[in-house]
Amino acid sequence: MIPERWRRTGLGLAALVVLASTVLARAQGLPAVLDPPPPAPEQPLPYSHRQHLDLGLLDCTDCHVKPDPGFAMTFPDTAICMSCHETMPAGADGAKRLAAFAAEGRPIPWVRVYELPDYVYWSHDSHLAAGITCTDCHGPVAERDVMRRETNVASKNGCLTCHETRQVFSDCGDCHEPRQ
Ligand code: HEC
Ligand code: HEC
Ligand code: HEC
Ligand code: HEC
Ligand code: HEC
Repeated sequence: MIPERWRRTGLGLAALVVLASTVLARAQGLPAVLDPPPPAPEQPLPYSHRQHLDLGLLDCTDCHVKPDPGFAMTFPDTAICMSCHETMPAGADGAKRLAAFAAEGRPIPWVRVYELPDYVYWSHDSHLAAGITCTDCHGPVAERDVMRRETNVASKNGCLTCHETRQVFSDCGDCHEPRQ
């Protein structure tokens, strides 16, 4: 039994940590957490970030390779998946579907979670170079079994809250054509 007094102190501390991280996120202008997030789109096969990152063998950028000029993070080539799964027994349904895509040699048609309209100019490169992390914008992906839109980063509010807080000068033409 945990004494009531300690239990309360523990709860108090936990509340304080949550509060402190919210305040910190605001001070840095990080995109707001959507609570509750919209439902996850149905994917062609059930891929879990948590299951794979828990292996301790993979970094985000092993799968999300950023080709020049650095606009998009892209989705992994099926060959990257097969570097492990080739030699693993495909017992479950998900692994069977993966093997079928690999055998047909066609890319897996992942459904987008975060997506900007194409009239918005966006680059991962400049933002990563400014020291902003994947988690800052996409939430704790490594803990997730299913990807959902957890933050408002793909909305104008999400962009502008951060730009205003960090005093990044942004004119209409920085994000929309014609680019100046
Ligand atoms: C570093 C090796 C590695 C890579 C790379 C890898 N996997 Fe896995 N994957 C695993 C391991 C290990 C498991 C867990 C197997 C278990 O617990 O039964 C797993 C489990 C899975 C499962 C769940 C098991 C099932 O049959 O339903 C799916 C689906 C899956 N992976 C898909 C993928 C996809 C898609 C990719 C590429 C985007 C990928 N994996 C890349 C090692 C890997
Ligand atoms: C083994 C390969 C693999 C690794 C490692 C990996 N991812 Fe992914 N990621 C995928 C696949 C496959 C999808 C598409 C399926 C989905 O949305 O869950 C995806 C989807 C995403 C998406 C949603 C993209 C969109 O808008 O549709 C984000 C964001 C993302 N990953 C971030 C990360 C971050 C951050 C890390 C590191 C913590 C990471 N990923 C590590 C394979 C990987
Ligand atoms: C400053 C915020 C921000 C940061 C930092 C960020 N992303 Fe994104 N990410 C976005 C936005 C916004 C989109 C939607 C872009 C679009 O639709 O063109 C996106 C889209 C994606 C996608 C979908 C596919 C693609 O090519 O666009 C993946 C995968 C992804 N991000 C992974 C990552 C990973 C991995 C990291 C860390 C290395 C990361 N992101 C860091 C904001 C961010
Ligand atoms: C968490 C903070 C943050 C968020 C969210 C963010 N930005 Fe930025 N953005 C920055 C910073 C910091 C810079 C300045 C980088 C530099 O000095 O080069 C920047 C620079 C830019 C630039 C100029 C550099 C370039 O790539 O041409 C554009 C355009 C831009 N952001 C668009 C966007 C859009 C569109 C969104 C939303 C989809 C967005 N940003 C979301 C912090 C953010
Ligand atoms: C930091 C980037 C950024 C800047 C600066 C920016 N926008 Fe946007 N804008 C976006 C994004 C992202 C969207 C699409 C997502 C959304 O609508 O939330 C958008 C959507 C729009 C739309 C279509 C949707 C709507 O709200 O009707 C219009 C029109 C627009 N912007 C006009 C402007 C004008 C005018 C300015 C200058 C006063 C401006 N934008 C400055 C990022 C930006």
